[in-house]
Amino acid sequence: MVTSKFPKDFLWGGAVAANQCEGAYDVDGKGLSPVDILPDVHHGRWEALMNPTEALEKDYGFYPSHESIDFYHHYKEDLALMAEMGFKTFRTSICWARIFPNGDETEPNEAGLKFYDDLFNECQRLGMEPLVTIQHFDTPVALMTNYGGWKNRKLIDFYLNYCEVVFNRYKDTVKYWLTFNEINMILHIPFFGGGLDVSKEEHPEQVKYQSAHHQLVASAMATKLGHEINPDFQIGCMLAAGATYPNTCAPEDVWKALEADREGYFFIDVQARGYYPSYSKRFFKENNIELEIAEGDLDVLKENTVDFISFSYYSSRLTSADEKINSKTEGNVFASLKNPYLKASEWGWQIDPLGLRTTMNQIYDRYQKPLFVVENGLGAKDTVESDGSIIDDYRIDYLREHVREMGEAIEDGVECLGYTTWGCIDLVSAGSGEMSKRYGFIYVDRDNDGQGTLARSKKKSFDWYKQVISTNGADL
Ligand code: BG6
Repeated sequence: MVTSKFPKDFLWGGAVAANQCEGAYDVDGKGLSPVDILPDVHHGRWEALMNPTEALEKDYGFYPSHESIDFYHHYKEDLALMAEMGFKTFRTSICWARIFPNGDETEPNEAGLKFYDDLFNECQRLGMEPLVTIQHFDTPVALMTNYGGWKNRKLIDFYLNYCEVVFNRYKDTVKYWLTFNEINMILHIPFFGGGLDVSKEEHPEQVKYQSAHHQLVASAMATKLGHEINPDFQIGCMLAAGATYPNTCAPEDVWKALEADREGYFFIDVQARGYYPSYSKRFFKENNIELEIAEGDLDVLKENTVDFISFSYYSSRLTSADEKINSKTEGNVFASLKNPYLKASEWGWQIDPLGLRTTMNQIYDRYQKPLFVVENGLGAKDTVESDGSIIDDYRIDYLREHVREMGEAIEDGVECLGYTTWGCIDLVSAGSGEMSKRYGFIYVDRDNDGQGTLARSKKKSFDWYKQVISTNGADL
């Protein structure tokens, strides 16, 4: 019999985010979230993401997030299916605009709070530990319109007010918190990451890094506040990770890869070590970035580092110092060269299970704090057979190999709290706005145009994952 490589209390589960699954975009007093003003990729999603103020003025007709998979009204049925798979944890996010529709109110919206009461209580009743992201691409749109988003220091106060409310309200039902989803994404999709429109900014990098500073301070203050409200809280950061490989062994390529990785580690260096990394000084100087740091900020960062480090991993990346080499492929927003040793998904995301082991070892070597793999998965088109079954062997293969390598990383000595696959139930893709880019064990009958019954059904991978969990990762 194969023995498990995973700790006995390993938190197996799945992940979603409010903005991609809840729908009910204007129900019970909710304000607008960034996704609510975006069409899908075939109708100008990326142009809108990069020019959100203009997008707000437009009428795209159909908005994938407005109904999405209507998790808001289906959550009981969905959680029951997740519990049937044996989930020990369920990761979701709170939609900020459900609690504070404009982001800057002093009093919260009770109907929004009540929804998450019910949701988290249901998780607990079913034996699943909620893992809650406080801000997953979800700064209320009104905070962009009225304050310019996270470039405005006032956002720290609004965010902390929001944190105080949700920490107090859910202190007995939620133990695991993530302050910002993929905090490094603010550099790549500033509207999702920071409610920012940098399209008209003279120096966008300055604005992005200043906003990042505000988020880093907010994250540290939230960590402090959370620990005061409940000392048992485990509060983590979240990185869009994926080791960068050099295209060749040319020292210039190796250096380029190191720099590429530092772009993301920069954030975690601050959140996990408590101070700006030494290399950031030169980077800021050479890019004419001058951070406004208020008195006390550096102490706050120093004194309130995270309890654990969570990250998403979809693929490794490849880079070259030679600008003539440009065999670009798609990836989780980050441009990467095509790695000839890897296959890719239909969306061009390269598949590299060993890269997960490498990434886990690198992060753990760097910080020596527990890790949590909170996103990993394959976006693929599924076919519903005439008997209603969905044979998603490709997804099983992807996940099996990644779980195997995660097990190896644990044997390497990496401390890892758990694993939540991305999009455990099909949902709207963040990058493309499509439904057809499916990640789930649970199929949802809804297409890219919003047609379908919203009925849920189990894919082949449902039983496979159930088996993985019941054997604590021994039977893959
Ligand atoms: C991560 C995000 O970047 O990747 C998720 O945290 C997102 O919100 C996921 O959905 C997969 O990306 P996509 O574009 O396939 O939805």
